Amino acid sequence: MGVEVRVEGLTKSFGSQNIWSDVTLTLPPGEISVLLGPSGTGKSVFLKSLVGLLKPERGSIVISDTDIVRTSEHRLYEVRKLFGVLFQDGALFGSMNLFDNIAFPLREHTKKSESEIRRIVLEKMDMVGLQGAEGKLPGEISGGMRKRAGLARALVLDPEIILFDEPDSGLDPVRVAYLNQLIVDLNAQIDATFLIVTHDIGTARTVPDNLGLLFRRHLAMFGPREQLLTSQEPVVRQFLNGRREGPIGMSEEKDVAQVEAEMAALEARGGDAHNGIGPKGASGGDAVPPQLEPSPGLPERKAQRRRQERVARMLHEFDGDTAEAIRASLPPDLLAQADAGVFQPTAGAGGRHWDADGVPAGSATAVLPASRGRS
Ligand SMILES: Nc1ncnc2c1ncn2[C@@H]1O[C@H](COP(=O)(O)OP(=O)(O)OP(=O)(O)O)[C@@H](O)[C@H]1O
Ligand SMILES: [Mg+2]
Repeated sequence: MGVEVRVEGLTKSFGSQNIWSDVTLTLPPGEISVLLGPSGTGKSVFLKSLVGLLKPERGSIVISDTDIVRTSEHRLYEVRKLFGVLFQDGALFGSMNLFDNIAFPLREHTKKSESEIRRIVLEKMDMVGLQGAEGKLPGEISGGMRKRAGLARALVLDPEIILFDEPDSGLDPVRVAYLNQLIVDLNAQIDATFLIVTHDIGTARTVPDNLGLLFRRHLAMFGPREQLLTSQEPVVRQFLNGRREGPIGMSEEKDVAQVEAEMAALEARGGDAHNGIGPKGASGGDAVPPQLEPSPGLPERKAQRRRQERVARMLHEFDGDTAEAIRASLPPDLLAQADAGVFQPTAGAGGRHWDADGVPAGSATAVLPASRGRS
């Protein structure tokens, strides 16, 4: 089973520039989580902190009983072996062909024979649709192919924690659809803990168990997918619908008066400030779309039942559309138990986190403020 990642009160600055403060979240073992956020809010910095490449100045990141913010270099090296990471820029070695790039972690961290390495590398290349490209140099292939080579390399060590930084950027829409299915299939096969940073709304709406949003130097929200997908918070609606109108601006955040004026203008044009259709077609709207399932013939995702039990325990924390959407995702036995009050409230453990006002919520089970949106 995948490994739990527990982040508490994490704060990161570069010099006098604070990137984010008091980030608290738990990645539940074996579940898929997606982190959203405007460009420059520090999503990549967050992923790099999780693997110990950047050192936050406050807070902790606990993985397998090790706080990797404070551990020794030696222990960090050991914990890193649990990770498969796709960096945003692919980070391939320019002078090595794709085969050697993908084989690199195997040669570095294992004592496998060359024939075994060859088998694994070709299998992963096949998986991401790169068969036949073994001999190519990174400079000779397309951006999308480089991305997929980075994916293959992230998978060769059978990681227990998978971090993908924008795996879909630079891919055409059809390949993004394949990639989304690949992520769900991989999760079913290896039961690893996934954290994916993406700007693709379709991916965010259909792939993860949990969704989070970084905004204004805080984790604005993190919780079960139903929580964000039913949220009426303006910044969440704007993001999930890919709209200009809302708190997020091109280069900096807008002030309240400007946002209100834009919303009024949008409504005047006949638009719905709360239900715009995003630029990627299938994405907009209020409904919670069904989550992608593993391809036929694959095992069920083991995380699925674990997650159902987890959210059943949290059900009492939600109301309205969110509670309804969560109820719709539960099997009858768990729903009956939840309604009978069998579950005791649990704090933390992958729970929701709400911090829309930039006020640290303190616990992962903070109370959702009353909707400030429509109705
Ligand atoms: N090593 C570094 N030294 C100094 N500043 C850095 C460093 N790495 C990142 N930053 C700054 O941290 C901020 C967040 O960067 P980051 O790359 O994490 O954004 P992001 O959310 O991933 O954006 P995008 O969606 O565009 O990829 C930026 O202002 C960036 O300039
Ligand atoms: Mg980034």
